[in-house]
Amino acid sequence: MSHPHLSVLILAAGRGTRMYSDLPKVLHEIGGKPMLSHVIDTALSLQPTTVGVVIGHGKDAVRARISQTVQWIEQDQQLGTGHAVQIAMPHLPANGHTLVLYGDVPLIDRTTLETLLAAAGDGVALLSDVLDHPTGYGRIVREQGEIVGIVEEKDANAAEKAIREINTGVMVLPNAHLPAWLGKLQNANAQGEYYLTDVIALAVADGVTVSGITVRAHHLAAGVNNKLQLFELERIFQKEQAEKLLGAGITLRDANRFDLRGSLQHGRDVVIDVNTVFEGDCVLGNGVEIEAHCVLKNVTIGDGTRIKAFSHLENCTVGARATIGPFARLRPDAALADEVHVGNFVEIKKSIVGHGSKVNHLTYIGDTDIGQNSNIGAGTITCNYDGVNKFRTEIGDDVRIGSGTMLVAPVTVGDRATTGAGSVITKECPPDKLTLSRAQQVTVRNWKRPEKNKA
Ligand code: UD1
Ligand code: CA
Repeated sequence: MSHPHLSVLILAAGRGTRMYSDLPKVLHEIGGKPMLSHVIDTALSLQPTTVGVVIGHGKDAVRARISQTVQWIEQDQQLGTGHAVQIAMPHLPANGHTLVLYGDVPLIDRTTLETLLAAAGDGVALLSDVLDHPTGYGRIVREQGEIVGIVEEKDANAAEKAIREINTGVMVLPNAHLPAWLGKLQNANAQGEYYLTDVIALAVADGVTVSGITVRAHHLAAGVNNKLQLFELERIFQKEQAEKLLGAGITLRDANRFDLRGSLQHGRDVVIDVNTVFEGDCVLGNGVEIEAHCVLKNVTIGDGTRIKAFSHLENCTVGARATIGPFARLRPDAALADEVHVGNFVEIKKSIVGHGSKVNHLTYIGDTDIGQNSNIGAGTITCNYDGVNKFRTEIGDDVRIGSGTMLVAPVTVGDRATTGAGSVITKECPPDKLTLSRAQQVTVRNWKRPEKNKA
């Protein structure tokens, strides 16, 4: 459903004192994405005419971090939620409805908002929740079942404090009434703030219908004020993602030890062992297996490839039927073809490794092109950096690089060439030949091991 006369206003100016953080509260992340971005995406999914975000504390950091297009509204002094909407008034159309959301209520979903908008009709709708422990929240006051107002915790009497139906803060308001209602707000209350919640009683006084919708799960309307609440929502979010992936056929060895901070596309028969973290946009082909404790960020992995335990892959691609790790590090712009083997303690950066080539042990490959079916011996290093500039190494097909070879770039190793173990290669290695640079081995026949002087 699209809502042509809908404006969304997201309140996000608060400080977030209890996060004990220099980062503005709404920039703390759920699933690797700022809370505010979650709310903006959900708001945009309603296709409203405008999305305004009220910012104050840390406003520059918020603007710099959030990439979606929204209307930024600055509230320099946080005089209350009612004041925040007052500040936003000039940006709201004269008619239609305004949906008020909070930047620190990240898991609000479209279904809930659609229901709320439908319930509002021409009037007001608010989203409530029923809590066993309602302390701290505004209470929904009803008479004969009808909503008559909201009273904040700090202003509530004992009877009101006993009410378990609370205001989540999410509400739909008719714009035509806003100038009058907001104009009447007073700050003569326990917190000395202009409460948006006071518009409810004003609406009732004006004979405008106020509908209440109870949220279908607590987490959808749960706010984040501290790291404990952030953690709780993160786990709920991760569990939902894991359940979606399980539903789509992925095998997760433990759905409680799985973290996706971005997107994951996958084929059939994908198996992911425990404690792997996916970031950015990852794509796994059919039959890919990721062993325990890997970190994968913006990677594409071909069919049948196995990423063994404790590997770290970032901004790289791996072909089909390859084996990577354990303890491998693939850095940005590593492009590995099909059937490549990369073993333990190998780092590869900005390099192409051709079909079937192997780099199995303790090696650094940077700024290099390796052809097909070549083998890079243990402890090989491409010396690609002279301290100022980077240079490329070219290695052909069917090459055998001996263990401990230092390839001082720029340098070329021809097809079917072999280098001797321990060589420092500074000049071209011609195809089909053995090239080595190694001091002659000598044995000193008359040498004696020194002995301790006897005093
Ligand atoms: C508010 C509600 C309360 C509700 C609770 C739900 C009011 C008066 N009270 O209380 O009924 O149960 O939320 O969590 O509305 N903000 C601004 N500018 C301001 C003040 C707040 O942008 O001047 C933003 C905050 O950043 C936050 C949201 O509005 O995202 C709510 O403000 P907060 O101070 O947390 O309100 P509560 O006192 O918790
Ligand atoms: Ca709050």
